[in-house]
Amino acid sequence: MANPFYLRDVVSIKDFKREELEYLFEQADRFLEMGYEEKSKYGRGKLMALMFFEPSTRTKTSFEAAMLSIGGHVIGFSGARGTSMEKGESLSDTIRVMDRYADVLVIRNPMEGAARYAAELAEHPVINAGSGSEEHPTQALLDLFTIRRLKGGIDGLRVAVVGDLKYGRTVYSLLNALKLYSVEVYLVSPPQLRIREEALYDLKGMKVHLDVELDEALKLADVIYVTRIQRERFPHPEEYEKVKGSYKIDARAMRLVKEDAILLHPLPRVGEIAPEVDGFGQAKYFEQVRLGRYLRETLLALILNENP
Ligand code: NCD
Repeated sequence: MANPFYLRDVVSIKDFKREELEYLFEQADRFLEMGYEEKSKYGRGKLMALMFFEPSTRTKTSFEAAMLSIGGHVIGFSGARGTSMEKGESLSDTIRVMDRYADVLVIRNPMEGAARYAAELAEHPVINAGSGSEEHPTQALLDLFTIRRLKGGIDGLRVAVVGDLKYGRTVYSLLNALKLYSVEVYLVSPPQLRIREEALYDLKGMKVHLDVELDEALKLADVIYVTRIQRERFPHPEEYEKVKGSYKIDARAMRLVKEDAILLHPLPRVGEIAPEVDGFGQAKYFEQVRLGRYLRETLLALILNENP
């Protein structure tokens, strides 16, 4: 297969086919084994611009680590503070400026559609690192890569998705990626944070069980994907207070989980997975972080090089 990622925007997971994801994962398997000498030819002389308008630890630093690991360079900013947006410069001008410097742009913005807008404006490829509660496609890519590595494949798995299904962008991107596989999905959330109707509509044709009890899901799932309540997306703080702390995976819950199941979380966690769970063999969220960096190395290398 010719490299389908070359100079391509990564705005929505829905823009990709299963064969394309498989191609990426096979290349990522290679990158996991490769030393710096070999890898560094893919990014040499290339510049990545980060435009992060929302807080981030992992996504931002893993893109940085990834670009440096393939021999490239990184410029950019976190938060509009300190940029000319404080003087009133528009988002579009900011994007156009960064596009004049960089070979690839990575944007995180609280507005839905921001990444698509950037991709339309920029001549260089744009990667969506999170657009409001809409999408986070590279998180879904690394989630699937992690599942595939740790479970030996994706087809046939039972996947429980637990938490904020309404505002969580990682959930929406993950479900749309899983849709390309033959999996059964169990959705677990407080009633107020049920998946949005239009999101459910996109999953038509997929085996999705709605409003599953947490304990039931924990018992049957091969993959348990937990998310944080997206406090910053609530229209009213009181609404957040009503659901805060309404679910938690602790040592008691872990006793229900299958021996060979894996527990994932895009992180940050803010109480929904107790620290005591870290000692359980099924807890794989930090391994997910580690693998994510390789997935992003591979993605950048494929975007920047026609024949990797
Ligand atoms: C997620 C995000 O930003 O959507 N974080 C991440 O990128 N790993 C999840 C979250 O903030 O809850």
